[in-house]
Amino acid sequence: MAGFPAARPRRLRRTAALRRLAAQTTVTPSDLVLPLFVKEGIGQPQPVGAMPGVVQHTLDSLRKAVAEAAQAGVGGVILFGIPAAKDGRGSAADDPAGIIQAALGVVTAETGDALAVMADLCLCEYTDHGHCGVLTPAGGVDNDATLERYAAIAVAQAAAGADMVAPSGMMDGQVGAIRSALDRAGYHDTVICAYAMKYASAFYGPFREAAEGAPQFGDRAAYQADPSAGDALREIMLDLDEGADIVMVKPALPYLDVVSAAAAAVPVPVAAYQVSGEYAMAEAAVANGWLERERVIAETLTSIRRAGASIILSYWATEAARLLG
Ligand code: PBG
Repeated sequence: MAGFPAARPRRLRRTAALRRLAAQTTVTPSDLVLPLFVKEGIGQPQPVGAMPGVVQHTLDSLRKAVAEAAQAGVGGVILFGIPAAKDGRGSAADDPAGIIQAALGVVTAETGDALAVMADLCLCEYTDHGHCGVLTPAGGVDNDATLERYAAIAVAQAAAGADMVAPSGMMDGQVGAIRSALDRAGYHDTVICAYAMKYASAFYGPFREAAEGAPQFGDRAAYQADPSAGDALREIMLDLDEGADIVMVKPALPYLDVVSAAAAAVPVPVAAYQVSGEYAMAEAAVANGWLERERVIAETLTSIRRAGASIILSYWATEAARLLG
């Protein structure tokens, strides 16, 4: 190194104060969104086996969980409803008396505008076959018939008080169909957070237990994106053109390249969903004493933020907000 002043990156690492000062990535509680499951017809919260610490809520336990999240400074919650009865078209999803609409009512009454209230908008929790749309006679998912269902669900969720709807079914044209339906019904201010690039991922396994939405036959590869495909920006741009206010990438950690590309390309906030399998993987290792829980939470959230996500959905949101706050 003769002739050069010694480059010593360690200078900025010597004390905690210097490290804090030099930090370029911070996660704040208001960046975080907590996913919550609410099930119709149960008397007590039901633990989700593969997701230690996560439950299917009753309306009452949901209200408490949302109040705790708001208290910790979490930026938002996203609600998933599990109806008592399912059918081929997912009728409970847009029933004004259905579980998700009831949950939205309870949550918005509890929190007012203290945090953003999102509703996941999909059919897989509501259909008896477990697919994200209605089926053709041949057993495929009928894209355009599904859009009509999504439009009706969006209006029902907006009417029940959702600040934001989050379509997660990966049908072509879903954002445009939902935007038109919301506008026609007078819900011009309802935000659309599009699951713009949602991969057909093995990391959703535990969620399917939590939301009881596993496909009863086949898989979701004909509508969710292929992990090895290169069409992420195209999907994201289509959603923007159709009126998405926020675009989401999912899962998060295995797809940080996509989060980063999206953040560089779009002029709207990018959200990333740290999904059930990411949570389960870490919790299982923690339970074995193989990983340190709080460090894993902080490091994974920091990494997702560093890749460019401005909003992070995480089952650790309330706990992380307390750690950070
Ligand atoms: C429903 C939906 C899924 C997730 C969010 N919305 C499951 C799926 O597509 O199979 C996964 C979330 C998670 O794994 O935490 N379409």
